[in-house]
Amino acid sequence: MAPSETMAIQKTQQKPHPTVHIDAFLYDEEAVDSLCEEGKMSRNYCLNCGSHRTALLEFISHSFSIPELHFLFHNVLPDLTGKLVVDVGSRLGAVLFGGYLYSAASQLVGVEISSEFVKLQTMAVEKYGFSDRIQVIHADIRSQAALVQNADVLIMNNVFEYFMEPSEQMQAWLFISQNFRKKGALLVTVPSIQETLALLQDTVFLETLALGQWIEEVPLDYSVYLKKDTDPDSLKQIHLYRVL
Ligand SMILES: C[S@@+](CC[C@H](N)C(=O)[O-])C[C@H]1O[C@@H](n2cnc3c(N)ncnc32)[C@H](O)[C@@H]1O
Repeated sequence: MAPSETMAIQKTQQKPHPTVHIDAFLYDEEAVDSLCEEGKMSRNYCLNCGSHRTALLEFISHSFSIPELHFLFHNVLPDLTGKLVVDVGSRLGAVLFGGYLYSAASQLVGVEISSEFVKLQTMAVEKYGFSDRIQVIHADIRSQAALVQNADVLIMNNVFEYFMEPSEQMQAWLFISQNFRKKGALLVTVPSIQETLALLQDTVFLETLALGQWIEEVPLDYSVYLKKDTDPDSLKQIHLYRVL
């Protein structure tokens, strides 16, 4: 986490169960196991100080893991030749790098509000020579109407939940629904859009958004991705929608 991400840090600390943030793009299951074996971290927390009772810590990641990126570009999305993919809140660039290596998308654009993460992505894009197809924009997605209107695929992995207040999240979703209108364009969300919006608990907002007139869900076959060590529950959080 960047030191400036005070809201996300606070929201993680306020979760009902003790939760640690482990970025799944940077640390795969094997790396976490090794760190646990070396005693550098633990998957457990003490329920009752002084006793030996322990429970599993909850892990969250603010990036897609590499198996999730494989699943996304090989099994969820169709052939992306000639398509513009926009990752809303691109953070470390995991989706952009996954899209570069695992798809034929002609342009992959990341929009990230945090300057620290824009710097990291820009360094990686230059270092690995990805700039022919990847572009990173430092901005709030709400200022990028033309880009969202032109996108063929929009990726939204837990973008706003940890980083914006509910009123701002509603504004951002309204902005997306008003601008992402290209018929047949694809929207990927984690978790499902219904789950995300339900957390905002605002029926007037839900009626204004009119999901059913904007998008339809495309069913996914989660059983096609049977790579060992992949958590099936994390794949089931990935949902695909088509713009009507
Ligand atoms: C959970 S991360 C997703 C990372 C990446 N898309 C992935 O799947 O690996 C969400 C990111 O969205 C960024 N973000 C939040 N609100 C935003 C906004 N309004 N505009 C642009 N980026 C935003 C946050 O700074 C954070 O880095």
